[in-house]
Amino acid sequence: GVNLDKLMAKTGLVTLDPGFVNTAACESDITYIDGGAGILRYRGYPIEELAAKSNFVEVSYLLIYGELPTAQQYEEFADRVRRHTLLHEDLRKFFDGFPRDAHPMPVLSSAVSALSTFYQDSLNPFDRNQVELSTHRLLAKLPTIAAYAYKKSVGQPFLYPDNSLGLVENFLRMTFGFPAEPYEVDPTMARALDLLFILHADHEQNCSTSTVRMVGSSEANLFASISAGINALFGPLHGGANSAVLDMLEGIHADGGDVDSFVNRVKNKEPGVKLMGFGHRVYKNYDPRARIIKKTADEVLEKLGSDDPLLDIALKLEERALSDDYFIERNLYPNVDFYTGLIYKAMGFPTKFFTVLFALGRLPGWIAHWREMLDDPARKISRPRQVYTGQAQRSYVPMDQR
Ligand code: ACO
Repeated sequence: GVNLDKLMAKTGLVTLDPGFVNTAACESDITYIDGGAGILRYRGYPIEELAAKSNFVEVSYLLIYGELPTAQQYEEFADRVRRHTLLHEDLRKFFDGFPRDAHPMPVLSSAVSALSTFYQDSLNPFDRNQVELSTHRLLAKLPTIAAYAYKKSVGQPFLYPDNSLGLVENFLRMTFGFPAEPYEVDPTMARALDLLFILHADHEQNCSTSTVRMVGSSEANLFASISAGINALFGPLHGGANSAVLDMLEGIHADGGDVDSFVNRVKNKEPGVKLMGFGHRVYKNYDPRARIIKKTADEVLEKLGSDDPLLDIALKLEERALSDDYFIERNLYPNVDFYTGLIYKAMGFPTKFFTVLFALGRLPGWIAHWREMLDDPARKISRPRQVYTGQAQRSYVPMDQR
């Protein structure tokens, strides 16, 4: 192949591609997307099949190791992920240091960053056993960290993990349960959350995953790299969109539910007014995850007994946008997060917490990409070029002459 380094040194040519719209930064075996056809596959398996037949722990294994596990591999993996759920006691103190009304995303990223200080025996990215250990630790501990962040925000006592439960059930119990009180996990809720985690588990080189790869390319440890990914996910144009959708629906509801006038504001490009949960950099036809969720949303909302007026607004908004030239011309369709917020709300999660749920789902994808990046013989530190547009050389002017 062409040695781009040498070519650049010789010619001075660089590609200017803001937002990496057309620039691949790596080769990857993990996730295939055909944005035009609305196809998403993890390791070759269509998302529709995984959603119908698999579970989140199995999908995590598939993404990280490349193949579906045998029964024994599955048991061993699930067992390790179950055994590492406890947090170091001193880590609990972190949660007291943050303001109670803190957004849970920076709490999550700070606690994950702190894992580098508590688990120093699994930081070497080139020691296979340590990478395995940090992988299991992260998968097991992130739900505990997330549940603690929730408990802190509502002023309730923390619950230690119950390792007889599965990952999603344990997370629901730590979040919504109380010490010394039995907590019955609602199977509909557990299954729906597991499904949402599967749908979020990977999405190739999105902003947060690229961040994890970029930080990891400096050979930073897994905890440090994932913490950076969580911060990237926090933004409203990425993971933050799921809460932004709900804020938008609530705003429309408070204004009397007038969908048309909101759509007109979007079309007039009022600053800061976008149809949140619509549009995607890669999917320009439909988002296959949104299709699966839409089917599930009705079912789940009915079973959980929710008659949320916001659902009605969401349905009207979708119908209105899908028949409007502005959205049609720009290929704007509902993305995965148009409906997730309504489901999370029906489950009892506060709006601020939605992006944390996205992070829990996306974790195995981040880990898979970090590991693939480190194993890639063509790996290089991420170091984009720029096109300099500033001043030409000039001489320093002493302060009294400016
Ligand atoms: N509402 C209204 N107009 C939109 C929207 C939207 N949600 N999304 C894009 N557009 C318009 C743009 O204004 C632009 O119009 P123009 O050609 O007249 O200037 C055109 O559609 C193209 O949009 P871009 O911003 O160039 O598309 P890009 O690929 O850069 O952005 C993004 C993708 C960030 C997802 C965008 O569609 C958006 O902001 N959506 C809302 C936020 C959201 O839902 N994010 C979640 C993404 S999915 C995820 O992270 C799971």
